[in-house]
Amino acid sequence: FLKVPYFLHYKAHRIIRCNMSSVLQKLITPLASSPAEPPRNKVTVVGVGQVGMACAISILLRDLCDELALVDVMEDRLKGEMMDLQHGSLFLKTSKIVADKDYVVTANSRLVVVTAGVRQQEGESRLNLVQRNVNVFKVIIPQIVKYSPNCTLIVVSNPVDVLTYVTWKLSGLPKHRVIGSGTNLDSARFRYLMSERLGIHASSFNGWVLGEHGDTSVPVWSGANVAGVNFQSLNPDIGTDGDKEQWAATHKAVVDSAYEVIKLKGYTNWAIGLSVADLIESIVKNMSRVHPVSTMVKDMYGIGEEVFLSLPCVLNSTGVSSVVNMTLTNAEVSQLRKSGDTLWGIQKDLKDI
Ligand SMILES: *[C@@H]1O[C@H](CO)[C@@H](O)[C@H](O)[C@H]1NC(C)=O
Ligand SMILES: *[C@@H]1O[C@H](CO)[C@@H](O)[C@H](O)[C@H]1NC(C)=O
Ligand SMILES: *[C@@H]1O[C@H](CO)[C@@H](O)[C@H](O)[C@H]1NC(C)=O
Ligand SMILES: *[C@@H]1O[C@H](CO)[C@@H](O)[C@H](O)[C@H]1NC(C)=O
Ligand SMILES: *[C@@H]1O[C@H](CO)[C@@H](O)[C@H](O)[C@H]1NC(C)=O
Repeated sequence: FLKVPYFLHYKAHRIIRCNMSSVLQKLITPLASSPAEPPRNKVTVVGVGQVGMACAISILLRDLCDELALVDVMEDRLKGEMMDLQHGSLFLKTSKIVADKDYVVTANSRLVVVTAGVRQQEGESRLNLVQRNVNVFKVIIPQIVKYSPNCTLIVVSNPVDVLTYVTWKLSGLPKHRVIGSGTNLDSARFRYLMSERLGIHASSFNGWVLGEHGDTSVPVWSGANVAGVNFQSLNPDIGTDGDKEQWAATHKAVVDSAYEVIKLKGYTNWAIGLSVADLIESIVKNMSRVHPVSTMVKDMYGIGEEVFLSLPCVLNSTGVSSVVNMTLTNAEVSQLRKSGDTLWGIQKDLKDI
């Protein structure tokens, strides 16, 4: 039968009856006869909430995939988001945007971004929230791996470090292919706020926030620099309570900023979306750029358990190709270990993973 795009079907039927030669047939002469190849850089976003859609639009605008798939359980919202993006096709260079609640739509993904999950309810303990998200991930992760056994997973849902561990366990994928967005956003916020204080662009202030994403993240003051000029050499007290200039307030502002944005607009989405797209670029373009992302840190810095924390990781098309052995002060190392202990305290009580 005639191969016409689905949107022409309703008209094509009438035309076909009176004349077999359609506009499409008259217009286009087929040349290649080989079957369609699978996508090379397909990216799936699981969850079409504010964060998922900010990731999706950032990926599309930076031209990082040849096919984008969306999955969610809310079918109307999912279809609406898909159609809305498709209507922007004229302004994009991603030729295929698909969506379905069935994970078959994600098949052959190179990268899968997981933004799905339940939110903390008032008065709910963190452990309870994590366990509820474990139950959600138990449905999602095996489906993803079933259809894209060679994908790299980027976990964005919170609490991201624990859920990255859960994803690693549930997926059975090697650790270099399960990455948590971790403190990539905390570091971006830190660099922005520091650069504002310095009157320079965020990319020109080099500073890393590592460890656990959120309240207990670790600013590495010992390595903060602009153009290689180390801040600790200019102010030995930097980042401590004894610092007269109170630079530590900038890291406190990083921690508070998520709460502040949520209080003002209800959620955060743009910065996380942009930061996730940046990770994806390093992976799909095999760039080997270094990002602070959550990775399995057992046996590093004296951490003895299987926990995920953010360290500077080299990302190439294999995923996390290596970890930078950052020079940390004893205080910074003990903060990392403390985060590791906290996370293990939660993880060891999780059921069914
Ligand atoms: C169908 O279209 C072709 C090409 O335009 C034309 O030559 C032919 O006469 C048409 N046939 C009928 C039955 O309309
Ligand atoms: C996954 O990678 C392996 C090894 O490179 C390859 O043999 C296999 O065909 C790939 N599977 C899919 C579904 O692409
Ligand atoms: C990825 O980059 C590394 C160098 O960083 C290079 O050795 C390798 O061949 C590249 N792989 C691909 C698939 O381009
Ligand atoms: C990524 O980097 C690792 C370590 O440098 C290297 O072994 C691997 O081949 C690289 N990946 C690709 C796809 O080239
Ligand atoms: C990492 O660097 C520290 C010193 O900065 C060193 O003591 C440690 O052995 C290094 N770790 C590895 C795995 O090389």
